[in-house]
Amino acid sequence: METRVVDHPLVAHKLTTLREETTDSPTFRRLADELVTLLAYEATRSVRVEPVAITTPVAPTTGIRLSSPKPLVVPILRAGLGMLDGMMRLMPTAEVGFLGMVRDEATLEATTYAERLPADLSGRQVYVLDPMLATGGTLAAAIRFLVDRGADDITCIVLLAAPEGCANLSAGLEGVDVPVTVVTAAMDERLNEHGYIVPGLGDAGDRLYGVA
Ligand code: URA
Repeated sequence: METRVVDHPLVAHKLTTLREETTDSPTFRRLADELVTLLAYEATRSVRVEPVAITTPVAPTTGIRLSSPKPLVVPILRAGLGMLDGMMRLMPTAEVGFLGMVRDEATLEATTYAERLPADLSGRQVYVLDPMLATGGTLAAAIRFLVDRGADDITCIVLLAAPEGCANLSAGLEGVDVPVTVVTAAMDERLNEHGYIVPGLGDAGDRLYGVA
């Protein structure tokens, strides 16, 4: 698993306001949206393309377009939905699938409670959206689900990551034989005893949508 922290002053600037406890939900949503677009630029660096012949008003030439099968963007419900528009703005021809994950509080296992995905993801590059890579359990289960469906290249876009989450995710993906990349705006210090990222930004879902 490769982890990429996007080092850019605009990313750090937007993230700073996003973290502030006084930032209200409308501002939080707008900043998260803008931040995802910046992260998506880095995350799609290896998106698959194919040559295409075009004619400009002056001359024929060759360019590129996204190749088939189209990339699939998968927000993890609920908080990942707040990242979808920012991603689709950059890659409007991608397709979108949905994955709902829930953690069983007894076993601590993350399982899928809802999915709307193509039946066969063979040969697909998949972009998973989830704002917080905290313990890593949800993301590991989501990636395994997508790989079982045939996804052959997975990039996760997260706003913030914790070192413990990255280590757990890497361990949770043992035996998974497809490239997995995590792109994040920052690697924070640690997780606290409640599983929150420190310093973090609090509960991303609540801050996006204003209700628990
Ligand atoms: N989920 C969140 O929304 N925030 C955290 O800090 C950790 C997990």
